[in-house]
Amino acid sequence: MNKPIGVLIVEDSEDDALLLLRELRRGGYEPVCERVETHEALKAALENGRWDIVISDYVLPGFSGLAALNILKESGQDLPFIIVSGNIGEDIAVAAMKAGAHDYIIKGNLTRLVPAVERELREADVRHEKQRAEEELKVERQRAEKALKEANETLERCVAERTAKLAQSEAELQRSNSDLQQFAYIASHDLQSPLRNVEGFVKLLARRYKGQLDAKADEFILHISNGVKDMQMLIRDILEYSKVDSGGKMFASVDMSLCVNKAISNLRAEIDEKNAEITHNETLPVVYGDAIQLTGLLQNLIGNAIKFSQEQPKVHISWKREGNRAVFTIQDNGIGMDMKDTDKIFAVFHRLHSKSEYPGTGIGLAICKKIVERHGGLIWVESEGEKGSTFYFTLPMKE
Ligand SMILES: Nc1ncnc2c1ncn2[C@@H]1O[C@H](COP(=O)(O)OP(=O)(O)O)[C@@H](O)[C@H]1O
Ligand SMILES: [Mg+2]
Repeated sequence: MNKPIGVLIVEDSEDDALLLLRELRRGGYEPVCERVETHEALKAALENGRWDIVISDYVLPGFSGLAALNILKESGQDLPFIIVSGNIGEDIAVAAMKAGAHDYIIKGNLTRLVPAVERELREADVRHEKQRAEEELKVERQRAEKALKEANETLERCVAERTAKLAQSEAELQRSNSDLQQFAYIASHDLQSPLRNVEGFVKLLARRYKGQLDAKADEFILHISNGVKDMQMLIRDILEYSKVDSGGKMFASVDMSLCVNKAISNLRAEIDEKNAEITHNETLPVVYGDAIQLTGLLQNLIGNAIKFSQEQPKVHISWKREGNRAVFTIQDNGIGMDMKDTDKIFAVFHRLHSKSEYPGTGIGLAICKKIVERHGGLIWVESEGEKGSTFYFTLPMKE
């Protein structure tokens, strides 16, 4: 059975067209054909039909093979275009091929027609297959790009939403923190004056009536004045804690050896009482911070090292440089602590010992943490139980 083929013939001679068709039939094809001989007719045929090949004469009255080739190109269809013509000479044939014709056959020798058609159909198939694959690849790529773009947009939106939420909750946290600190500041500040009144009158009571009432009354008076002292200490510490952020000084160069000396001199009474030995590296660095707060930090840590000990306290302060920060250590030979408690002790009011064993409010290390954090540093502790504790903190160094 012959293979069907859609042939569009551009030819003014009906006879020549019939010859072509006969040749194709002989070659095993069953042509479905239309013959056109004008510009408009070719255009219309290309628009309306589905063709496998165009076979065109080279010269027609008022039309030409090259003009037909142009129309085919403009139509956007990639069909094999074979010129079948009288002898037009090699130069013109070459020019026609350069213009895009696929082959050139002389009317007097149609035996080449069928092989040429076969070859061109095959090549057109390959071309179309390639175009289809490229087209599919393009669509696939566009789809992937679109999916990627959408995924990116979703991700960016999520990140932006989260960042906004975080910023909002951070701002809220900061606001409520500073509200709380302000409240603590005002409350503790305002408590001082009535407490001073109580202190004054208890002292008066003790001075005037000690020994004149019964023994119980003297004991009660003692309890009241001890309570007043505890409360004063507590209020002083809360006040100090609430002032770390708002009451701090501007940062400047701070010579840490001056801070250590000042802290030691502030702790003179405690040091003498327990005959404590405080040593430090020969030189201590210059850091960037608030000298008063850094003195307070050292005083708290050295004070604890002296307080939480049962033998003669030995405290050593040293430091080392790590990049652009200084890491300080304060090592003692005191009672030490369980490693499971080392995080908790920096929280406000958290103590590992009762007030009767070791006096205190449990605020000192919370103040230390706040001071170190205000300086952009870290604070932590390590302990090997009975062998004592080592507190570490970091501070930015002056460039
Ligand atoms: N050098 C230390 N050795 C052992 N325990 C310590 C040391 N420093 C602090 N601690 C423990 O951490 C707790 C919290 O310390 P701190 O906040 O300074 O409160 P305070 O000194 O008022 O008790 C202390 O009660 C104590 O249990
Ligand atoms: Mg303390």
